[in-house]
Amino acid sequence: MKTIPEASLNVRGRTVYIDDIPEPRTMLHGAVKLSSSARGRITRIDASPALASHPSVRVVTWKDIPGENQLGFTVADEPLLPEREWEYWGQPLVLCLAETRALARRAAELVVVEGEELPAIFNAREAAAAGAFILPPRSQRSGDPASAFERCAWVVSGRVDSGGQEHVYLETQGAVAEPRDGDRMFIISGTQGPTVVQRAAARILGLPMSMVEVEARRLGGGFGGKEDQASTWGCLAALGARVSGKPVKLYLDRRTDMRATGKRHPYTSDFKIGMDTQGHLLAFEADYYQNSGCSCDLSAAIISRTLFHAAGAYRIPNLRVTGYMCKTNLPSFTAFRGFGAPQGFFVIEAAMDALARKAGMDPVKLRFANLLVEGDTTHYGMPMSGVRAVEAFDRLLEKTRWKELRSDIETHNASNRLVKRGAAIIPNCFGVSFTKLPMNQGGALVHVYQDGSVLVSTGAVEMGQQVSRKIARIAARTLGVPLSRISVERTSTLTVANTVPTAASTGSDINGMAALVACEEIRGRLIHKAAELAGCPSTELSLNAGRLVRGCEDLGMRWEELVAKCHESRIDLSAHGFYATPGLFYDMKAEKGSPFAYHVYGAAMVEVSLDTLRGTYAIERASVVHDVGRSLDSAVDLGQIEGALAQGLGWSLLEELRFGEDGRPLSDTLSTYKLPDAHFLPKRLEVEFLPDADNPKAVLNSKAVGEPPLIYGMAGYFALLDALRAARKDGPTFYDLPFTPEKALDYLQGARP
Ligand code: MTE
Ligand code: HPA
Ligand code: MOS
Repeated sequence: MKTIPEASLNVRGRTVYIDDIPEPRTMLHGAVKLSSSARGRITRIDASPALASHPSVRVVTWKDIPGENQLGFTVADEPLLPEREWEYWGQPLVLCLAETRALARRAAELVVVEGEELPAIFNAREAAAAGAFILPPRSQRSGDPASAFERCAWVVSGRVDSGGQEHVYLETQGAVAEPRDGDRMFIISGTQGPTVVQRAAARILGLPMSMVEVEARRLGGGFGGKEDQASTWGCLAALGARVSGKPVKLYLDRRTDMRATGKRHPYTSDFKIGMDTQGHLLAFEADYYQNSGCSCDLSAAIISRTLFHAAGAYRIPNLRVTGYMCKTNLPSFTAFRGFGAPQGFFVIEAAMDALARKAGMDPVKLRFANLLVEGDTTHYGMPMSGVRAVEAFDRLLEKTRWKELRSDIETHNASNRLVKRGAAIIPNCFGVSFTKLPMNQGGALVHVYQDGSVLVSTGAVEMGQQVSRKIARIAARTLGVPLSRISVERTSTLTVANTVPTAASTGSDINGMAALVACEEIRGRLIHKAAELAGCPSTELSLNAGRLVRGCEDLGMRWEELVAKCHESRIDLSAHGFYATPGLFYDMKAEKGSPFAYHVYGAAMVEVSLDTLRGTYAIERASVVHDVGRSLDSAVDLGQIEGALAQGLGWSLLEELRFGEDGRPLSDTLSTYKLPDAHFLPKRLEVEFLPDADNPKAVLNSKAVGEPPLIYGMAGYFALLDALRAARKDGPTFYDLPFTPEKALDYLQGARP
């Protein structure tokens, strides 16, 4: 039978998402009542109007929680349902259950929650001034910046702001929970981390983790939004199921999702940067004020990734950077592709831009001259090897014929008043591994069935990034069988325990390696048996394309026959694999160590044309040179690079997350939150992989690809800046992302310096 690849099920609309799962007759639907102001003390909850609306309605409050009312693992600051206070506009306050979704939603509207308004803070700098921090600040340093600044020929300082970003995964958040025998609970969750939901639900329900089973099927996108924050919905569904004794589905409509869930952290930062007369960077300092929102969530890990990426792709010998996690009355900001690194990159790139302008230097030359090279040590003390920053940048200059392009642009701009062109190049150096060291582990369970078909389960969650395809390729190559023999199963806490979320771009690195370990184990047993059958040493035998071979000689035995023989001989055809990324260490006190297995390199050029009357602009071209090591699947890697670039361009130029002066969400629909579309994306898009190079630090010499290319979107911001400088003398003196067409028009009309 011809099997249909999963990805094509997806494009044919045949993937079963949470809301497509057939509903048992007894199922109840959940809906949440959200707070409608930014902060308040709860004085009274009146469920009676909701209860009166339909006999099937139940109203579930924090009082129904049998275990601990807490989702926060880094800091215990996140009740599932608030007991005394709500802390942001759009926070779930109570859960309503009813026979249909419409009844549940109406009931949620009818519940009355009364309270007293409390003062609220929305701005990170205000929170910092008020001393409202989630955790104490964290600093990293190297060399001696204070004395280095004295030696600088050029020093600039400034302020940089970057906005938040809504994930807009196609599938909104949700879960289905079903009570099972005894007090067990089964949850199907739209999560990147089934174990995260399992642990949270066990805590909420007061159960051991062994009694909570969590399954994650293919998600309609996660992008970080479901790394930690799927727990709320998984736990609420489970709580509803516990209270009612019936299966419960909770699936958010788009607006509820956009109001209630976290997004990329907005940052506001101050920097100071200096270089010598030759244009070599000597010193950099920055203070990052992360708007963490109302609770910790992943903010601590995210600020640490910002600090690790403070120097971008550059060598800066003297550096001091400090991250502040500012507590505000906004939704708890969370993981989003790049995980704090883009925010850090934007500050150093803005600083480079400011420095080049002050010194009257070509920004591309300044960037190129200061790239990291082999043998450099990062500010966090990691010696760098396999550095490909210069190689990528060089290749990009060549590929885009940068010199000619630059002079074309100058010529064009000199003779055109209405349309100005601009271009910029941004280099990339992205650390791969979870910044939280214990998270760098994963498992796999591989079964070979007696007909020779292979089932692989790992901790990796498929969310469109095609990790399952990569893992299938790894298994096929390791076992020496055709890809069509491999199925990759959904992720479940029953098959693989204690998984980490599929995040930090490590999905295929960690889980792929665990799958490889398990497949090697099984292959070893098969080959051992084959050696017995063939009467030769096992070292001479291998499996290739589903056949047993000795050197170049086909021994006339198919994989299926060998598997059947092993099964008859009562050989175990299943194996568990485990992988813990080796060589990682970090001293948190000294802030020194090697927290990453390796780095990913690359560079991107973006060219724009700006209509100086309207402030509108078009992305004429994007050109990317990117390091994927030895690609596990070039179509998948290409798709990831293009997708991340699009998301990075959206963050840099278009997507504006807005809240009112009272903390009200203003961009909570797809009509008030502008997403990149086909018209916005580059008219010409070229992606080139850096020539194959082995990466001994990851599975089959590949490199992680999911997040790093998001950085390239920033080239769009600086290209627009370049065009604006051609349009209005000296150009903008602020760095404030996204640079929307409205902002461009305001600027062109003189509203901002
Ligand atoms: N690609 C798609 N299509 N959908 C997603 O949700 N998430 C991104 C990236 N690419 C995502 C995606 C994020 S934030 C991460 S961390 C990685 O995929 C996670 O998957 P990987 O580790 O398997 O690359
Ligand atoms: N990336 C993504 N998620 C994480 C990380 C990280 O570095 N650390 C902890 N969770
Ligand atoms: Mo990705 S932000 O690490 O889920």
